[in-house]
Amino acid sequence: MSSSPASARDGFSSGFGVLAATLGSAVGLGNIWMFPYQTGNNGGAGFLLIYLLATLLVGLPLMIAEISLGRSARTDPVGVYRKLAPGTLWWIIGALGLVSVLLIMSFYSAVVGWVFAYVGKSVSGGILTQDRSLLEQTFGGLVSNPAAALGWQWLVLLLVGIIITFGVSRGIEAVTKRLMPLLFGLLVLVALAALMLPGAMEGVRFLFLPDFSRIDGQVLLKALGLAFFKLSLGVGSMTIYGSYFRQQQNIPRTALTVMLADLTVSMLAGLAIFPAVFALGFNPASGPALLFQTIPAVFASMPLGHLLMIVFFVLTAFAAIGAMLSLVEVPVAILHERLRIERARATWLTVLALVGLGSLSALSSSTLSHVQLGGMNLFDLFDFLSSKLLMPITGLLTCLFVLLRWKQAGFVAANSNEGALHNTGLLRAVFTILTKVTPLLILTVMLYGLL
Ligand code: PHE
Repeated sequence: MSSSPASARDGFSSGFGVLAATLGSAVGLGNIWMFPYQTGNNGGAGFLLIYLLATLLVGLPLMIAEISLGRSARTDPVGVYRKLAPGTLWWIIGALGLVSVLLIMSFYSAVVGWVFAYVGKSVSGGILTQDRSLLEQTFGGLVSNPAAALGWQWLVLLLVGIIITFGVSRGIEAVTKRLMPLLFGLLVLVALAALMLPGAMEGVRFLFLPDFSRIDGQVLLKALGLAFFKLSLGVGSMTIYGSYFRQQQNIPRTALTVMLADLTVSMLAGLAIFPAVFALGFNPASGPALLFQTIPAVFASMPLGHLLMIVFFVLTAFAAIGAMLSLVEVPVAILHERLRIERARATWLTVLALVGLGSLSALSSSTLSHVQLGGMNLFDLFDFLSSKLLMPITGLLTCLFVLLRWKQAGFVAANSNEGALHNTGLLRAVFTILTKVTPLLILTVMLYGLL
């Protein structure tokens, strides 16, 4: 903890800590679980290409905007807008983000629960096999068992509560900065092993040779939603982390590094999964089950596979927790800084709310599977409402806020560290993209995808 004399707020204590924590927010199940399955569901390389464009033209500029807004106001995601635009309704951006956080946490914590369960299954070794039906049964058995799904999810939420109680720098930095490089290294190994499977090239073609016939409005919206989700945008996570950034941190450079690293992790996850999918005859469009059904089969082909599979699920669990910390930080900061509720109490109130909300997702494939809206169960509905609706809307409003209230001068001053960085030409270009290209793209894709 390195609170400056001027404020009693906690903050990240070093440049590397800032980067690690921000990366810790971005890299998580979005990369390892969601990216592969959405790419698989939406036809592979064409989807990937659109996703790349969305990351570059929407994700990166918005990440710079959110972090710098947070650092300029140094308060919670609702307070940021009350401080920078007092007496206006712009704070609704923060409130919408809060709603997204609750929806995301509901299904995210359920999936982290599955990851925890797979740590256990890896230790016992029963899933170290290339037998497809056994792997499918194992996953199906877990998600359709209400007690198991709930129990693992609640354990995850309890753990997150404990970590948050320890505060920003000690809790978040300590965990994420040590484990990220390990995860990276292991993914390289798994990808290499997957590429060595006979027939692996089919998977590489799927990932890199675009088939544009699969692209329609819905696919565009999914790619946009994934860009928001993976970079933790449109919910307030980057804004609140930005509020803990050091004054001398180079925000645009940090955002670029985070984006590139996040992309690399996703590509490695894709390279670990798709070669195996095609080599071993799995279905690339098997949805949320994809990671859990395929990755054990890759480990079954590797030397030391048993041990490495345990390490893989443990590291995935840590990456997911790093991301969850940045989600939970949003309600906690709002309760603490808006409503003056003591941090520890705010944390446990949030965890309690999430146990309730999360149970709806955890039970969506068993007890609550009959609860459907628009053909989606609760799990899919929460995902749809957050990444395909609320997050893009919040992103759009953020662009408008920068355009209409903060204006070029405010944006450039904040991101050049008040002129210390001499990068104003570049920043003016980013401002133009952020306030013209980004909002137009979000609006077009949303209208096209929803109507
Ligand atoms: N970016 C995280 C991941 O990819 C998820 C996340 C979304 C975190 C939104 C914070 C806010 O796993």
